[in-house]
Amino acid sequence: MIISLCDDSHDVADLAAQRVADLLHASPRTVLGLPTGRTPILMYDRLAERHAAGALDFARATTFNLDEFVGIGESHEGSYRAYMRRYLFDRVNIADGEGHVLDGLAPDADVECARFEDRIAAAGGIDLMILGLGANGHIGFNEPAATLQARTHRVRLLEPSRKANAGFFGGDPAQVPVEAMTMGMGTILKSRRILILVTGAEKAETLAATINGPVTTQLPASFLQLHGDVEVICDREAGNAIR
Ligand code: GLP
Repeated sequence: MIISLCDDSHDVADLAAQRVADLLHASPRTVLGLPTGRTPILMYDRLAERHAAGALDFARATTFNLDEFVGIGESHEGSYRAYMRRYLFDRVNIADGEGHVLDGLAPDADVECARFEDRIAAAGGIDLMILGLGANGHIGFNEPAATLQARTHRVRLLEPSRKANAGFFGGDPAQVPVEAMTMGMGTILKSRRILILVTGAEKAETLAATINGPVTTQLPASFLQLHGDVEVICDREAGNAIR
């Protein structure tokens, strides 16, 4: 893995946006994998600014989001579809229907997951997957567990993940849906290139274990060690425990 150590979260966002811009300039038909959470918000701000300045065109790009809650749709402000509209889709020119997010209101989540995998394959696979890191080592909603599922699947959320997402649900973890759908680690690892953005001291130990520790389903992020083209973009606080 390549480690790009930045001073702070603003520099992390600048560098991540630069990576996306370089790729879009080189190949406008790029397929991006996108994360939610607090970490990437500043990167989305930078991308929106570049687009507003006429310097970044998403017209031929396609995007696939990592995950979504089960049971809520776009009209709920805690849904990842609503997040993506707020921070990116409504601010840039991704073509209608080319910003793919799993449908939390699909009548059958398993069918929805299979459909999503097919869409990714039909788009030619993901060129650049951008990830955040869960404080408990989850990627997307691949939670620490005895086993992991490779492809996009339905998952029961662990309490730490519901707590981490409470900010979008009035601060109350009990309001966070109990289930989600997520790309599997196999889906993620099939991406041609991966960027993982990590900020803040509270993720330092998890990041160090992701990079230096054993590959284990108890730390899904550790599976990134198996991929040949991963760049970790982190701030000083998050990078503090890397050996
Ligand atoms: C959320 C999302 C992840 C995200 C992670 C980190 O639960 N499902 O895709 O990367 O947790 O979130 P944050 O950046 O807010 O710490």
